[in-house]
Amino acid sequence: MLELININKNYTSSEHSLHILKNINIKIEQGEFVAIMGPSGSGKSTLLGIAAGLDRADTGDVILDSVKMSSLSEDGLAKLRAEKVGFIFQNFQLVRTLNAIENVSLPLIISTKLSEKEIKEKAMNLLEKVSLEHRISHFPSQLSGGEEQRVAIARSFINNPKILFADEPTGNLDSKNGNAVMDMLTSLNKQNNSTLIVVTHDPKIAFLADRILEMENGEIRQRVGMIRSSLKTDNKSKKKGKK
Ligand SMILES: Nc1ncnc2c1ncn2[C@@H]1O[C@H](COP(=O)(O)OP(=O)(O)OP(=O)(O)O)[C@@H](O)[C@H]1O
Ligand SMILES: [Mg+2]
Repeated sequence: MLELININKNYTSSEHSLHILKNINIKIEQGEFVAIMGPSGSGKSTLLGIAAGLDRADTGDVILDSVKMSSLSEDGLAKLRAEKVGFIFQNFQLVRTLNAIENVSLPLIISTKLSEKEIKEKAMNLLEKVSLEHRISHFPSQLSGGEEQRVAIARSFINNPKILFADEPTGNLDSKNGNAVMDMLTSLNKQNNSTLIVVTHDPKIAFLADRILEMENGEIRQRVGMIRSSLKTDNKSKKKGKK
């Protein structure tokens, strides 16, 4: 479903050049739930943006659902994202001039031929799922951080994505809302066999995944054993036998 081949990314300024992603190779199958962990500044968000086609690598290729992203134009990339990708940003990135239901509807307004009424119904349904049915007319500035995050989560589901990227989706949420969001993410993953890639600092969330990748200083490695063994006492929520 997703393959990253020899990905390198540098940020160069007049003063210095930073090598942020160092020869990353990852292959993720359709239906997999992969967690990415690692220290702040290690390159997780940069990697996610490149994998989702929001940003381009300096070298290497990203292949998403058999499409080589480097061969697409900006329009082609935007179309691929609109059809197949959901993305929950670490800082939400809601449109400040649109209210909650308009923000959730936006990806469909751009990309489908559904009627306005159908789009609104879908958006309302998702806002209900994140317990925000009483905030649909609020603008981002009128929402709390956790509410903005839940609007962003509802928006990421609106196109029923084949692959969903979530950058610390529960970072601003209390445990009740955090659990509700993780239930939404994992049920999309299970019911639709969609692929789920979650950046998280929370070992309990990572433990729900099929696989944990750890980033450190721009490099990636698979590291399941250590985290699992440190969580042996808290493995009741582990889903079983999924592949
Ligand atoms: N546009 C940019 N220009 C220059 N440096 C950047 C840019 N974007 C990110 N960086 C640097 O790249 C490194 C990786 O950033 P990234 O946001 O990917 O880290 P992260 O692992 O997501 O961290 P966190 O856990 O804090 O979200 C950081 O040191 C950051 O300062
Ligand atoms: Mg980040």
